Parts: sequence; C-alpha cells; structure tokens
Amino acid sequence: MPIKAFLFDLDGVIVDTAVYHYQAWKRLANELGFDISEEFNERLKGVSRTESLDIILAHGGLTLPDEEKLELASQKNNWYLDLVSRMTAEDILPGVATFFSQVRKAGLQTALGSVSKNAPLILERIGMSAVFDAVIDGNKISKGKPDPEVFTKGAAELEVRPAECVVFEDAVAGVEAGKRGGMFVVGLGSPEVLTQADLVAPSLDVLTVDEVLTKANARP
Ligand code: BG6
Ligand code: MG
Repeated sequence: MPIKAFLFDLDGVIVDTAVYHYQAWKRLANELGFDISEEFNERLKGVSRTESLDIILAHGGLTLPDEEKLELASQKNNWYLDLVSRMTAEDILPGVATFFSQVRKAGLQTALGSVSKNAPLILERIGMSAVFDAVIDGNKISKGKPDPEVFTKGAAELEVRPAECVVFEDAVAGVEAGKRGGMFVVGLGSPEVLTQADLVAPSLDVLTVDEVLTKANARP
C-alpha cells in the first residue's frame, strides 16, 4: 500500500517546545523540593499534562489531592505559556520548511498529531496554522500517546488507511503510538532512545521526502 500521508508530532519535531516543557516541569519539581534530569525528561515527552505531572510527583515521592494537582498543572502551563508567547517563525526547527515544500511537491497529505492542548496557539505563533490538511490536538482526543488515537484520528480525517501513513516523532511514547496505530514511524532523535522506530534520524534537516518514501514503501 503506497504512502499517501505524513503525520507530524509538534513539540520536538516542528518546533523546539520540548525544551520549554522541560524547563517548566523542572521549575515545578524544584519548587516542590526535588529535581528532574534531562534523561528523566525523555519519559515525559509526548505524554499529556496530567500524566506528566503524575510521573513527576511519583518521582519526587509525593501524593497530592486532585485539587492541588490541578493547581500545579495550571502553574506549569502558565510558565510554559510565558516561554511560548515569545516564539516566532524563527523557532521552527531547521529543515522543516524545505521538508514541507518536498511534501507538497510529492502530493502527500499532512496532519498534525499532538496531545498538546496548546498546539493551535503554537501553530499560530509560528505561522503554520494553515499548513496541515488536518489538525488533531489535545482538545480532540480522549487518550494520550502511547495510545494511537491521535494518529488514527488524523488518518481518518484525511481518509487514508494507517498503512498509508508515515508518522514523525521525537518521543518514545509517540513512536509507540504510531507503531500501535499500524504506521511506519520515523523517529527524530537518538536510535538508542527511539528503539521502536522504523527509521531514525537526528532531525528533519537530514532527511528528504524521497528517502522516507523509498524506505516506507519498501517495508514488508
Ligand atoms: C506533548 C509534549 O506534545 O504535549 C508533552 O511532548 C506535553 O511534553 C504534552 O506534556 C501536553 O501538552 P500541553 O501543552 O497540553 O500541556
Ligand atoms: Mg514531541
């Protein structure tokens, strides 16, 4: 089944907001009296806000009532939004613009697949609101990654089958979501971390659409 659509994660794939999520969570952990490392942060990538908070609290050995957790999640989001509000199109990751022009030339459809509720705001800040044929974000799904919902909904909205899609992901949870959805997954990051991906590259900057299509179309 030839590839017809590319589905992109947002944070860490199109734009480097992954670092802002990390900074905001680290600040929260520090205020709660403990720390999180960059290595620990890999477990938070692609995971929803509430689940990320649960993972962080468990790491710090804290159990808190739901109202307090809501307050902490909202505090983190405010810090995060403060960092995001300064973003512009200059924050789009290297290689994204060239890659998208190749995607268009190849006649492929595109969808955004992000569990972030802030995705529409970020797309607006970087001037990419009108780029995707479908946008599935945290406001449209009930299950976060590694559940495949965000990608299967994207495929459904584009009216393509999962086997006709390639997913681009920087997170372990996101790679798992794409694989569980029955898609070819390109991991952007380190092969030691993104072990489940079908193909791994450091970033979109070093990939061409032709190369991805050749590999994805040759899969068994
Ligand atoms: C993902 C990020 O894209 O969105 C996670 O990788 C983040 O780190 C998640 O927790 C939810 O984002 P938000 O913006 O709704 O808090
Ligand atoms: Mg990501």
